[in-house]
Amino acid sequence: RRAHGRERRAQSASALRGVNGGKRLRACLVYATGASLGVSPDRLVAPACAVELVHAYSLVHDDLPCMDNDDLRRGKPTCHKAYDEATALLVGDALQTLAFEVLAAEAAHPALHLRMIYTLARAAGSLGMAGGQAIDLESVGRNLSTVQLEDMHGRKTGALIRASVTLGALAQENLDPTVLATLDTYAHHIGLAYQMTDDILDVEASTHVLGKPQGSDQAKHKPTYPAVLGLALAKERVKEEHAAALASLRSLGDNAKFLNHIADYIVQRSY
Ligand code: IPE
Ligand code: IPE
Ligand code: MG
Ligand code: MG
Ligand code: MG
Repeated sequence: RRAHGRERRAQSASALRGVNGGKRLRACLVYATGASLGVSPDRLVAPACAVELVHAYSLVHDDLPCMDNDDLRRGKPTCHKAYDEATALLVGDALQTLAFEVLAAEAAHPALHLRMIYTLARAAGSLGMAGGQAIDLESVGRNLSTVQLEDMHGRKTGALIRASVTLGALAQENLDPTVLATLDTYAHHIGLAYQMTDDILDVEASTHVLGKPQGSDQAKHKPTYPAVLGLALAKERVKEEHAAALASLRSLGDNAKFLNHIADYIVQRSY
């Protein structure tokens, strides 16, 4: 029965990916952060969509032959495989601008949305995701120190995860700056844990469950946590980041329960 259950879960995981696309972690973070501050969910729709749109664009470009050159994403052919490279380039461009269109179209709270647009733009740009991706490509085949690796992961993946939490928090008017700082510390730790886990799953999970090619990092000599530290130490680092994330939420008590659950999910996920 257990084997049958596992198979059903794997099937439903891939069915879910096929129908719905990604895990929507960043949107969940926007909602969970808003919930921890008592924000009404209808204020969170635009920022949750916007950050997922930027993330989706980053994946379409990440898979291109000039970047990671991967053929499978979310259990389907990557955009440039299903269509062609020019289309994938333009899809990324259009998803990115759509993200800011969605945020700017919200007329009800213009000052808040301006801050959200600024936050997302900073996180996606040269100091955040795009800059981190540039470091990633520049580092192929090189030995990075753990400090350099952490910096790269903090930018390419951590920046959008931090932005997700900040966007959820910004939806609360008159937010206490110490609460924002607490939430940002949490987001910093889960952002690192998320990419460390992505690196570990690239080694240990199967292509079927991942919905993207297993072993892609090693094949391309990518600097990853398992490559730099080995699998055992990489897993220890995940535990440290997870513990630090939970510790940073303590002052928020039960209000942060969804954020706590997300931290647990991030380190336990199978894809
Ligand atoms: C994959 O992100 C790339 C990283 C930044 C780690 P996700 O694992 O969140 O991808 P989806 O959105 O669920 O497909
Ligand atoms: C991607 O990192 C980070 C992005 C900004 C998209 P990876 O290259 O490890 O992501 P996957 O494994 O292809 O999803
Ligand atoms: Mg990449
Ligand atoms: Mg990739
Ligand atoms: Mg990866």
